[in-house]
Amino acid sequence: MYIEQMQKVCEQLRTKKDVLILGIESSCDETSIAVVKNGREVLSNTVSTQIDIHTRFGGVVPEVASRNHIEAINNVLNTSLIEAGVHLSQIDAIAVTYGAGLIGALMVGVSFAKSLAFACQKPLIAVNHIKGHMSANYIEHKDLQPPFIGLIVSGGHTAIVEVKNYVEQELIGSTLDDAIGEAYDKVARVIGLGYPGGPKVDKCAKEGKNNIKFVKDALKNSFDCSFSGLKTAVINYVNTLNQKGKEIPVNDICASFQTQAVDGLVERAIRACKKFGHKKLCVAGGVSANSYLREKLFERGKQEKIEVYVPSLKLCTDNAAMIASLGYFNLMNGVGLSDVDLDAVSNIEI
Ligand code: KG4
Ligand code: ZN
Repeated sequence: MYIEQMQKVCEQLRTKKDVLILGIESSCDETSIAVVKNGREVLSNTVSTQIDIHTRFGGVVPEVASRNHIEAINNVLNTSLIEAGVHLSQIDAIAVTYGAGLIGALMVGVSFAKSLAFACQKPLIAVNHIKGHMSANYIEHKDLQPPFIGLIVSGGHTAIVEVKNYVEQELIGSTLDDAIGEAYDKVARVIGLGYPGGPKVDKCAKEGKNNIKFVKDALKNSFDCSFSGLKTAVINYVNTLNQKGKEIPVNDICASFQTQAVDGLVERAIRACKKFGHKKLCVAGGVSANSYLREKLFERGKQEKIEVYVPSLKLCTDNAAMIASLGYFNLMNGVGLSDVDLDAVSNIEI
């Protein structure tokens, strides 16, 4: 019953002038709810982060994350609606991250979204978190339109995709093991910088030199990449110095690791633009906040006459505005309408 009615509602929404989407994101350690108009205009984007809680453990503890999402989510909804200046009844549809991510954490957002959608009789739109990151660019760059090449760099994923249209992304290459953000976090931990590692490595690298050669890029000519060898080489390097009682050159390790992690990815993304005939390259995901990656992309983009797009820092890391944005494009393209039996899925493809 619900789904048939919602199909009709969605048809009407496709012809409505202004469509307000409530986005819900809880895939990792940020509880976030946003209100976005027509996929691009952010009315609110409330993010309640658990970073301080997980810092004590040196990384995200899944069970702790789920419990904190449960505690936070009602307040995050109220704050988001107040900030947007809208009542729940004015929302047209509810978009939710159903994967990929931590299963318990995802379940909190998905259950909340299902209850809200059913109680308010609004369409429920399932959103793929990995694809959602790319939508941060539609919010940031109001005139940006697909097709283009996308580089997704987050704590859970690293991929180069061809963004065919607002809802379809085709995988060109991806990491064969760890995600780049995971490698950043692990390296930070090993050299004592703590969690979350990415921003700390980014900062220390600015004071260091790229003077330690950790590994060769064995997949240089492929669009796929790997970070586990690099990560292990850093760990071994640090362990050897520790055994010898020598000082750890933290800044140089950060600069060397970062250069070796980022340079190859940038080259792959530029190569993908050339091979698939695109002049636009959009970057998304938590690691797109990295200052060296941004600098390198703009430098190489300029040399190759490829326009590089990055979201502002607050839209790089997990947030619900990007989920609401993709929810809107899904809705407009007849994708993702879900029944109240929608399940959270921890591993999904792009
Ligand atoms: O996209 P995101 O918020 O969550 C996932 O979907 O995974 O990405 C989180 C990742 C973490 O690994 C974090 O260390 C990394 O993004 N990150 C950074 C920076 N800011 C966040 N990595 C490198 N440099 C940064 N400035
Ligand atoms: Zn993410």
